[in-house]
Amino acid sequence: MNATALPAPFEPPSDGLAPVYAQYPFEVASAEGVWLMGPRGERVLDLYGGHAVAALGYGHRGWTEALIAQARACQFQTNALPMQIRARAARRLLDFSGLDFASVFLVSSGAEANENALRLALRMTSRPHVAAVEGAFHGRTAGAAAVTWGAEAWYGFPRKPFDVSFMPRGDLAAIDARVTEHTAAVIVEPVQGLAGAVDLGAGYLAALRRRCEQVGALLIFDEVQCGFGRSGAPFAATLYGVMPDMLTTAKALGNGFPVAALLTSAKVSATLKVGLLGTTYGGGPMACATLLAALEAIESERLLENVRRVSAYIRKTCMVGPVTAVQGEGFLLGLRTGRPAKQIQAELLQRGILVGGASDPGIVRLLPPFILKEEHVDLLRDALSGL
Ligand SMILES: Cc1ncc(COP(=O)(O)O)c(C=O)c1O
Repeated sequence: MNATALPAPFEPPSDGLAPVYAQYPFEVASAEGVWLMGPRGERVLDLYGGHAVAALGYGHRGWTEALIAQARACQFQTNALPMQIRARAARRLLDFSGLDFASVFLVSSGAEANENALRLALRMTSRPHVAAVEGAFHGRTAGAAAVTWGAEAWYGFPRKPFDVSFMPRGDLAAIDARVTEHTAAVIVEPVQGLAGAVDLGAGYLAALRRRCEQVGALLIFDEVQCGFGRSGAPFAATLYGVMPDMLTTAKALGNGFPVAALLTSAKVSATLKVGLLGTTYGGGPMACATLLAALEAIESERLLENVRRVSAYIRKTCMVGPVTAVQGEGFLLGLRTGRPAKQIQAELLQRGILVGGASDPGIVRLLPPFILKEEHVDLLRDALSGL
């Protein structure tokens, strides 16, 4: 199957939406597998995964049927009444992680998961400070944005709710200097997403773990983007063998349905009690059905193996045209380009291939669905070769 060259010029549909997103020049009317279709039947290969969420691709039968069946059976919404499907989703997620977490708090967005993780750490330690890593993105709520690198450009709140310091990536000496007896938590994306698929590596993450132990701080892995299979392992924590005290995850978790989770170790879980955390939509039955369906498909269709194999194929074949290096893990990859990434993005979209950008202007980011195959990568390689 081939991508379609897009017609130019493009007129975005006029509407009353807040004008806060730059619009790519392609309107999506429908989607199937790894393909997006425009209103006139144009076909675009989605290597952006609908903002890293479409783990199973579009129109996945098992996921769609699970969502419809749950909507028919019961869409009742509150955590105050027990539901089998919520308990099952939590248990399956804990088992899938392969890590020693004791409980799961289900929420609806990555920022919400991070906000709760930070709050628990500050509360548990009664300390005023959080350390984060340069380049990090953790979300747009007051706490999550406080630990987001460069958020001053849009933060808006008059002050941050706690003291924050940022550590340069990979700098082991800076860890000792910035993570101290005043530090409640260190929050880190093991593979930074928005920064451009920057893999912080097992050594650096293990050093953070050791320093947190020394000073009594909690380690939070933000795996909103890199987690739930995108690294080719269930979580990057699994991949690197470094166990955080808390792990947040979202995006791929519901395959596009808003589902996020905060996983907590036994030590953190022991501090949880009634009334400490809350949410309206988190843990709703349709959210849980989508999470279970995503897990079921990842396991039964051996999608983690697919991510690892096709990721290696991208690394092998896509060092062509303007691409000078490939970084990242699994299906969170950054192509370093010899020309501004924005130009490459626009030229690829003209050829019917959607890719992401990054805060690094020299990186094109790939976040494809886990079902991507070598034949799709060949389309990318051929398009890149012609640029
Ligand atoms: C690593 C990371 N953390 C947190 C967030 C925030 O997630 P959400 O947009 O679901 O609030 C994102 C979103 O891109 C992210 O990539």
